Amino acid sequence: MAGQLNTAAVETARTRAVSADAVDAGNAPDVLPGSVSEQAELLRIGMDSLRHEDPALAVLLDAEVGQQATTLAMIASASVADLSVLAAGGAVLSNLTVEGYPGARYHPGSSQFDQVETLAIERAKELFGARYANVQPHSCSSANLAVLAALLPPGGTLLALDLDSGGHLTHGSRASVTGRHYNAVHYGLAPSGYIDYDQVAELALEHRPTVLIAGASAYPRTLDYARFREIADSVGAYLLADISHIAGLVVAGEHPSPIDLAHVTTTSTYKQLAGPRGGLILSGRDAGSPGPDGRTPLGRLMQRAIFPQSQGTPSPATIAAMARAFALASGPDFRRTARLIVQDAQALAAELSRLGYSVLTGGTDNHMVVIDLVERGLTGVIAERALEECGILANRNRVPGDVKPPLVTSGLRLGTNILAQRGMGPDEMRDCARLLHAVLTATDALSDSAYRIDPARAAEVRAEVRRLCVRYPLPFDGRADAYTPGAAK
Ligand SMILES: Cc1ncc(COP(=O)(O)O)c(C=O)c1O
Repeated sequence: MAGQLNTAAVETARTRAVSADAVDAGNAPDVLPGSVSEQAELLRIGMDSLRHEDPALAVLLDAEVGQQATTLAMIASASVADLSVLAAGGAVLSNLTVEGYPGARYHPGSSQFDQVETLAIERAKELFGARYANVQPHSCSSANLAVLAALLPPGGTLLALDLDSGGHLTHGSRASVTGRHYNAVHYGLAPSGYIDYDQVAELALEHRPTVLIAGASAYPRTLDYARFREIADSVGAYLLADISHIAGLVVAGEHPSPIDLAHVTTTSTYKQLAGPRGGLILSGRDAGSPGPDGRTPLGRLMQRAIFPQSQGTPSPATIAAMARAFALASGPDFRRTARLIVQDAQALAAELSRLGYSVLTGGTDNHMVVIDLVERGLTGVIAERALEECGILANRNRVPGDVKPPLVTSGLRLGTNILAQRGMGPDEMRDCARLLHAVLTATDALSDSAYRIDPARAAEVRAEVRRLCVRYPLPFDGRADAYTPGAAK
């Protein structure tokens, strides 16, 4: 079968080939009839051919569009990418294999991509006010692994926020290679739920880490980078700021920037930056400061840390999509949305508190609200599944002192990135809190993961979620009418 397919493919390719005689006789046109030189046209043809030649896959992709449009996504790590970002990510640039960096590649044929990558780097530097940017990491996890490998010898000590207190796996958790290859020491939270900076300072003095990490996956409060830097300096540690979750708020001025306070900053590009799947390494004032060998500037060290030390080829179309996302993130619409994200999260936290939920730290400064469900008699996984059944997406999360396993958990993490992108404001957050409450009060736990939900209440909530989604469509809904060809955005 595979042989037959190959034969057919070769035959098709040969029928497209122009005969050597025609070329020699000067009869071949400069541009082949029916050839397409525009990326947009190729994307359109590609989608058409997918629909006709692989309907099984096309149907799944279409269903996802419908699903995103009609669910209320409160996933703190998600956002909706602009269609131009998605289109750039589907560019023929994907066909390139070009290791290395602009002007220093290990393969030929990179002249267009060199310009694209340079554009993405310049836009990233401008957006974050950084002196150094690397746009090649395939994710923030890859970026963190690369930065740690460059700064820490095997067995070296890092100090970071504990996973149960809101830290990330790549910050030295035992479940990650970072917890096995390094000596990871963790700080936690004060009883208020805020980071205990005195404990960070004490642990730093006791363990003298080479790297101190400031960053979190589930921490709803502002991070004090100046305090972190003071602590890092007190023991000669490098400060790594991981802003994976809050990068959008940082560039919009809604959260203090770590760029000139941390030695190195990392982020994902698909979360609040509404870009493609990928990661960034940035550095500000310290880009020229020496690395652990006392000589190599951190910027140069980070270049090597990604290629060749931890990655091979970059993803060229992803980098094009990043360039587009960075341009959008520098605009006034993005800043307005970022402001709304924070206002929404604060309104959601206030309403959930009013309804009697235990909101960690009593509120939020960013896009995230974390609630502890222990007093409600529900686990995180039950809340997550019951909500999903009703068209609301929010994910289970460990909370400080959690006694449930990681796949169960006792908490729920909510985020307002997508709600604000839909144009919902604080008034609508009261509706969202009411819907969450309606689901959770109609749910009874039968075990850690089994539950029963009142079917009538579930149907009511599902209908109301749909109505809310229709009133506040995703940014790409209705774009076909709104788009004027040729009008640059
Ligand atoms: C603080 C933090 N760092 C890193 C990551 C990993 O990001 P990525 O999915 O880009 O690997 C996450 C993901 O949620 C995160 O929250």
